[in-house]
Amino acid sequence: EVGGLVDRYGRMATDLRVSLTDRCNLRCTYCMPAEGLPWLPKSEVLTDDEVARLVGVAVRLLGVTEVRFTGGEPLIRPGLMKIVAAVAALEPRPVISLTTNGIGLDRLAAPLRAAGLDRVNVSLDTLDPERFTALTRRSRLSDVLDGLAGAVAAGLTPVKINSVLMRGVNEGDAPELLRFALAHGYELRFIEQMPLDAQHGWDRSTMVTAEEILAALRAEFTLLPDPVERGGAPAETWLVEGWTAADGRPARVGVIASVTRPFCGDCDRTRLTADGQVRNCLFAMDESDLRAALRGGADDEELARRWRVAMWGKRAGHGIDDPSFLQPVRPMSAIGG
Ligand code: GTP
Ligand code: 5AD
Ligand code: SF4
Repeated sequence: EVGGLVDRYGRMATDLRVSLTDRCNLRCTYCMPAEGLPWLPKSEVLTDDEVARLVGVAVRLLGVTEVRFTGGEPLIRPGLMKIVAAVAALEPRPVISLTTNGIGLDRLAAPLRAAGLDRVNVSLDTLDPERFTALTRRSRLSDVLDGLAGAVAAGLTPVKINSVLMRGVNEGDAPELLRFALAHGYELRFIEQMPLDAQHGWDRSTMVTAEEILAALRAEFTLLPDPVERGGAPAETWLVEGWTAADGRPARVGVIASVTRPFCGDCDRTRLTADGQVRNCLFAMDESDLRAALRGGADDEELARRWRVAMWGKRAGHGIDDPSFLQPVRPMSAIGG
């Protein structure tokens, strides 16, 4: 497609991930220190109108077909409803999704659905209240469970759950999480922890791998190959024998093995941070300042041109396995999950 976001390796980015804030109401140990982080000053964060304008450029001029809102925690952004509605009004209308910790989703799910949100992915790493509090440093498990139920009730389906397993904390929770997801019709995916934590404490030797997770699941469940094409999706999925999802299709479980089974060759993502920087990869070492261009008076064509240039320079892969690998300066919460 002429004018799309292609890179020198022939990949085309059609999936835009927009971080709406770097702040969060949890403090997951694999993400943030207890005291939080130096948040972006408000003047540097894109306004609701600026977000809508840039997403509009991506959808109308650059061929983006899917828009996912992330954070930090996107539900704490005051203008979220307005932004979703503006994006839903774009032609051609993109698929709109949200990745959230679920707190407050019980009340927000229905209005978000009405504004045009299609689906949500909710982060939940354990069902044990004490381990939840140890991991997130907040006692909010019941709020997350209410959020999940609210999402289903509002029709934000299929509802997916993202779980990160941490050695010595919740590494044994995989089968229980799958039992819970199957019983409620949520699609569960386990995520290998990536070196994107603010504290730079990631260590390959303590990371719980896809292989270990699958072995733990197979002790209790039979996983069958998924006939559905994976495409550019980060999750590798399996059918869970004997289980049916809420929509009557076979139930699935997924693993996002970014570290041990990288999928960079099929990556179809482009990212916009809350402060208006285009990142061509989670692990990119540089960003392109669309906020400065926008506030400097650039028109839509010029913004699109800069976005194309930013994507052309995308590296072949994240390079976590290279001896020279350096963790990006910004943590996951500031880049967007
Ligand atoms: P759907 O499957 O379409 O629902 O979306 P998704 O899995 O892309 O969305 P989600 O925001 O739930 O992302 C889940 C996890 O996938 C993230 O937390 C990351 O760990 C991982 N992920 C998302 N995007 C990328 C990426 O560009 N590169 C890598 N390596 N991992 C990613
Ligand atoms: N590695 C992998 N996943 C992470 N998440 C947050 N930090 C990391 C990390 N370092 C997950 C959250 C959430 C999603 C947005 O990203 O658990 O599900
Ligand atoms: Fe918040 Fe997500 Fe980071 Fe947890 S992982 S502290 S929910 S941004």
